[in-house]
Amino acid sequence: MPGMKRLLLLMILGAVAFAQGPQARIKIDTDRKVGEVHPYLFGNFAEHLGRCIYGGIYEEKSPLADAQGYRKDVMEATKALGVSILRWPGGNFASGYNWKDGIGPKDQRPARPDHAWGDIDSNRFGTDEFLQYCERIGVAPYICINAGYGTVNEAREWVEYTNEGRSTYWADQRRKNGRDKPYNVKIWGLGNEIDGPWQLGHKNAEDYSKFALEAAKAMRRVDSSIQLIASGSSNFGADWIGWNRTVLQQLKSEIDYISLHTYIGNREGNFENFLANGQNVDHYIEITEGLIRAAQSGVRNPRPIYIAYDEWNVWYRARSSASEFATGATRLEEIYNYEDALARGMFFNSFFRHATIVKMANLAQLVNVIAPMFTNKQGLFLQPIYFPIAEYGKQRGNTALDALVSSPTYQPAGRKPLGYLDVSVTHDAKGGAVYVNVLNRSEKQDIATRIDNVEGALQPAVSVWEMNSNDFKATHTFGDDRRVAPKTSTLTARIEKNGFSYTFPKHSLTILKLKVQ
Ligand code: AHR
Repeated sequence: MPGMKRLLLLMILGAVAFAQGPQARIKIDTDRKVGEVHPYLFGNFAEHLGRCIYGGIYEEKSPLADAQGYRKDVMEATKALGVSILRWPGGNFASGYNWKDGIGPKDQRPARPDHAWGDIDSNRFGTDEFLQYCERIGVAPYICINAGYGTVNEAREWVEYTNEGRSTYWADQRRKNGRDKPYNVKIWGLGNEIDGPWQLGHKNAEDYSKFALEAAKAMRRVDSSIQLIASGSSNFGADWIGWNRTVLQQLKSEIDYISLHTYIGNREGNFENFLANGQNVDHYIEITEGLIRAAQSGVRNPRPIYIAYDEWNVWYRARSSASEFATGATRLEEIYNYEDALARGMFFNSFFRHATIVKMANLAQLVNVIAPMFTNKQGLFLQPIYFPIAEYGKQRGNTALDALVSSPTYQPAGRKPLGYLDVSVTHDAKGGAVYVNVLNRSEKQDIATRIDNVEGALQPAVSVWEMNSNDFKATHTFGDDRRVAPKTSTLTARIEKNGFSYTFPKHSLTILKLKVQ
């Protein structure tokens, strides 16, 4: 349909919808604070897997790399994405990794088989390369120790290598390798997915807790200021609640976070069902928050424990069989489409709504491997999922609000009913702005919505960021990575009784920035 006619039709439909009254309502009250949108919610993850490190972040001798071998185009895109914290070296890879293989002169480092993904690691990218990369791009490092095949002592020595300021054996090795000043790595993970039978060195909850407790003690003897993340359950088909309960009970006085991981996929080819996966994310967070509170019950001054959602994404195409998963044969090179971009709204909205307890989230992963950017030898392209991540990231430091939301509902297969509109709201008190993040997961309905504000006068100028496409399967490629990029505009809202009306188009993700005085 030619553009003008389509616009006219949309206006008529919108007018008809409003003549019947708005179907949805969002009520904003800046006094109803949930918690800070922590900058670490915009974290990422880089694993020794496929082309994430080698050929992604790091490509020695490439004309696109700098003198250290870091790909400059990837660094630029990472900075523009707004990454705040980077988790490394895995993932499953971490559970077989010996960090000592990755230090010292590169030509003398051993090549080792990686039994998590079936590859060979040259070890040319190791601890110093990772930590200096983080410094170069201005992100906080997060190292995950080997709680699979590794030992408590190796974990302790790793902290000594990175953080010890005095002259000790491992600190002096660091100096010998060209780095005098300690790196002061603050965030450490006590292993990855140790509850999963696929994990190298898989353990039961009791055995894992004993290991993690000793590792925490040993690592804190080197540096008492570090923050620790327990390996929470990611095996939701098993007794994941039992795992988290035991781990929290045993480790509650040592850990600062417990991790959660979630991957989703549109396996049935059903758009609305796919975008209902947010129900699981809410559920995992709320159950884990309850388990944290239960573990702390009766403790007078409990150590605060938060959730680190340190792996999340869409991942189902490049993982077609169990054997491919085990060997990494697919290299996890997902090409993302428009509906995958919309799923960002669902995840971030859930993290924001639970901002009291979710204080870190790491998209898995950074480049090539289930990632927002994709390289070849000549350059890179941005996948559709890149854009909402960068935009949501602008809300870091805001206060998430508990908004009242009512929306028409639908009944996804095998689930309880849920609203078509998935909403989160944040407040930037200093800037006098309120952000309204709305995913309309209806395939067919535009949703006329009344937006009301309680505290402060709403101003008519509204900035609109919107992602929309009729082609849910639209993807990007080299030289063509703006097909499903967002559009921005401003509108002058007709403010009545400190509110206005807005229609959220079907299958769209919208961020409205409102000014409040
Ligand atoms: O991100 C890919 C893999 O997914 C990670 O290595 C593992 O932790 C998870 O199962």
